[in-house]
Amino acid sequence: MKILRVETQTGRVDRESAEVLVLTHLEGEALSAEAAAVDKALGGVLREVLHSKEFEGKSNELALIHTHGKIPATRVLLAGLGKKKDLRLDHLRQVMGQAVKRVRHVKAASFTAVFPALLPADVTVVEAAQAMAEGAILGSYQFTTYRSDAAPATDVRAMRLLLADKGDLKPAGEGVRRGVATAEAAVLVRDLSNHPANVLTPTMMANEAKAIAKDESLSIKILEERDMEKLGMGALLGVARGSHEPPKFIIMEYRGAKKKDERPVVLVGKTITFDTGGISLKPSENMEHMKADMTGGAAVLASIRAAARLKLPLNLISILPVAENMPGGRAMRPGDVVKTLSGKTVEVQNTDAEGRLILSDALAYAQRFKPAALIDIATLTGACVVALGQFAIGMFGTDTALKDTVRKAGLRAGERVWEMPLWDEYFEQLRSDVADMRNIGGRGGGMITAALFLSKFVGDCPWIHLDIASTDWSERERAYLPKGPTGMGTRLLIQYLIDRSL
Ligand code: BES
Ligand code: MN
Ligand code: ZN
Repeated sequence: MKILRVETQTGRVDRESAEVLVLTHLEGEALSAEAAAVDKALGGVLREVLHSKEFEGKSNELALIHTHGKIPATRVLLAGLGKKKDLRLDHLRQVMGQAVKRVRHVKAASFTAVFPALLPADVTVVEAAQAMAEGAILGSYQFTTYRSDAAPATDVRAMRLLLADKGDLKPAGEGVRRGVATAEAAVLVRDLSNHPANVLTPTMMANEAKAIAKDESLSIKILEERDMEKLGMGALLGVARGSHEPPKFIIMEYRGAKKKDERPVVLVGKTITFDTGGISLKPSENMEHMKADMTGGAAVLASIRAAARLKLPLNLISILPVAENMPGGRAMRPGDVVKTLSGKTVEVQNTDAEGRLILSDALAYAQRFKPAALIDIATLTGACVVALGQFAIGMFGTDTALKDTVRKAGLRAGERVWEMPLWDEYFEQLRSDVADMRNIGGRGGGMITAALFLSKFVGDCPWIHLDIASTDWSERERAYLPKGPTGMGTRLLIQYLIDRSL
């Protein structure tokens, strides 16, 4: 898919030629100065539309008006931001996602969005411009790779952000730069998650990572099965046994800090290219969703690409343990004991709890980099979906300051996290009669016992675990989220990296 181009410029709304001119409106408020200028030129049409209550400015509400040559813009699209007191940064992202779809619908190739004069008190011009660019790019996302009937002749190719104030050009430009890199990362994650597992095998995932490393001049190391055997990654190897596809262990490095030996941020992403459950086979209903069980890995891959593109001044390492979880003849059996890289032994009572197994080896491997912060992201548990539904990412962590930074990044990114407890009391559920621990925690607190399992492999570095099973797949299309893989969690990670390097 060709990604929407975003530009910034200054100018007057009533003199701007555009296929579609997008004007935001706050419900119950008077027209903004920009909208009032357009309204005047159009002889009061906008006020008429508001008066008729056809359009009130409710969040994500749209109204399209033809201008009949009264101003250089062909159409005006009124776009609702909801009530002023409820306005959050994410409403800007959403309304642009909604608007871009309408622009596509009227077959326009470009549009101009007027930068809102009034922002919430805690929102900067950089953040607003970033959110608007993200909303437009993410809202225009389509995955048509496998459709022979797709390829529309025209599609929305460009968005211009129109600023009234010259002084806003620089911060808005910076916001757009961040928004484009961040949204393109989420697009990459959606694409990778959408590809079926017969295409996106562990080997293909490694090839994708190699291509990105080459494009962005990142260093990359890929461990093969025999390397994993030498190191003793018994958990990852155990999961991979049931598949004909060989596992991969990908390590990518970006050194952007002034001091090349500065402690890095290390990101670890669960990369199961397909999760059948293994011998503990999943029911067939919705099993096709499990092609997206590699979203965590895709997110850390896309994040390191974004960090490189934004030239963030930090050192960053992304680690992807990659395998396919299949019930082949050589597959792990319930009751098998594996020895992890850390030396700890695990009784595999359920082969469907494979994410925590591959992550245990990856988190142990991460220790060699002495991370300043270690963050793992994974479609880890169905229990996360049960507990949090579709709108919150499950967060666990050992470091208060790191948790606060991630929480704030989530608010800014519109990918909010909700903290869950990591209390040691729960560990009794993970005790095994034959090994150091077992890989399932029995009934109750499934998201927590999975996180607690991981915590045994992170040493004492500041660590965060993000369970994205809740948010990674959307049952329906939303303002800037498609139906299916959402790429959520990716922008949260990148926002965290941006905030950290400011
Ligand atoms: N990949 C799944 C978790 C998942 C479920 C992600 C639904 C997205 C949507 C994970 O590997 C899994 O199967 N977890 C099991 C763990 C259980 C066996 C302890 C689960 O949640 O059922
Ligand atoms: Mn599973
Ligand atoms: Zn899984």
